[in-house]
Amino acid sequence: MWIEGEVVGRVDWNDKLFSLQIKADIQPFIPGQFIKLSQVIDDKRVARAYSIVNPPGGDIIEVLAVSVEDGQLSPNLQQLKVGDKLDVSPKASGFMTLEEIPKASFSGKHLWLLATGTAVGPFISMLETHEPWNRFETVVLVYGVRLAEDLAYKEQLLRLEQAYPTQFKLVFSVTREDFPDAIQTRISTGIQTGEIQELVGIDITPQDSQVMLCGNPEMIADTNKILLHLGLAKNLRRAPGQITVEKYW
Ligand SMILES: Cc1cc2nc3c(=O)[nH]c(=O)nc-3n(C[C@H](O)[C@H](O)[C@H](O)COP(=O)(O)OP(=O)(O)OC[C@H]3O[C@@H](n4cnc5c(N)ncnc54)[C@H](O)[C@@H]3O)c2cc1C
Ligand SMILES: NC(=O)c1ccc[n+]([C@@H]2O[C@H](COP(=O)([O-])OP(=O)(O)OC[C@H]3O[C@@H](n4cnc5c(N)ncnc54)[C@H](OP(=O)(O)O)[C@@H]3O)[C@@H](O)[C@H]2O)c1
Repeated sequence: MWIEGEVVGRVDWNDKLFSLQIKADIQPFIPGQFIKLSQVIDDKRVARAYSIVNPPGGDIIEVLAVSVEDGQLSPNLQQLKVGDKLDVSPKASGFMTLEEIPKASFSGKHLWLLATGTAVGPFISMLETHEPWNRFETVVLVYGVRLAEDLAYKEQLLRLEQAYPTQFKLVFSVTREDFPDAIQTRISTGIQTGEIQELVGIDITPQDSQVMLCGNPEMIADTNKILLHLGLAKNLRRAPGQITVEKYW
């Protein structure tokens, strides 16, 4: 059920937000998928899901996590040092992947990736492969955080923006402070008012757009309503649509 993982690197983005690089011999995964990390705490096994941030290849997996106040596992993960061991699920899971998105003949021109907080991770895994760039005319990432210091992987994303200057539209939403180069509006509000579409210069339509939403369940619920109103539909295997979601809690 579990294999041994060893922490081989870590990055502290701020006093709550951190990334762990874990050496673990997991089976091949698809960008967008998550693994489970686990520890036995007070004689009880605690296991939680964490999306993989890096693209496939190699035997290191990287996760981005926030230490949740009074959380069971995440404060422990934050304490892990290089060389520490933890349990890892041998197989990644999850359906928020580009494979689950209908092919280009069905509304595939623009890919919209909407993330709050740590949920930017699975999108980075996708963006670090060739697939989104080969499949979509435009790739939009809207990354919403409370404070600018919560913008993990900002430099990496800015490098991707330089690598794909016309194809990649990167929007930071920093909601609790004024930050240059970011909007201060929530993702849901920005889509509802059209502020985000105007900023990137494209509309969200059922004909042209695929939208993936990940992270805060309230953001997903609020934005989903707005997308349904715009004529988009949930993407199901039996009924292809344009909205694919993964809630973190
Ligand atoms: C498919 C999936 C993928 C996930 N990927 C990640 C990931 O890549 N990184 C990550 O940090 N978490 C991720 N999570 C959440 C993670 O599994 C844990 O729930 C989280 O680390 C809290 O665990 P805990 O035991 O410390 O807290 P618990 O005692 O289980 O408390 C849970 C509460 O913490 C809050 N919470 C949980 N996750 C987050 C979060 N990411 N950001 C803000 N608040 C949160 C919510 O209020 C939730 O009700 C994912 C969850 C799912 C279902
Ligand atoms: N980041 C911190 O400073 C901090 C401090 C103490 C504890 N924590 C812990 O960390 C956890 C996660 O915090 P987080 O900042 O990563 O995640 P978060 O609370 O999910 O916030 C991330 C982004 O999502 C936005 N958002 C929240 N609800 C939304 C909705 N209904 N529609 C659209 N957007 C919405 C937030 O906007 P708004 O700003 O408008 O809400 C923010 O821009 C908290 O639950 C807490 O346990 C974080």
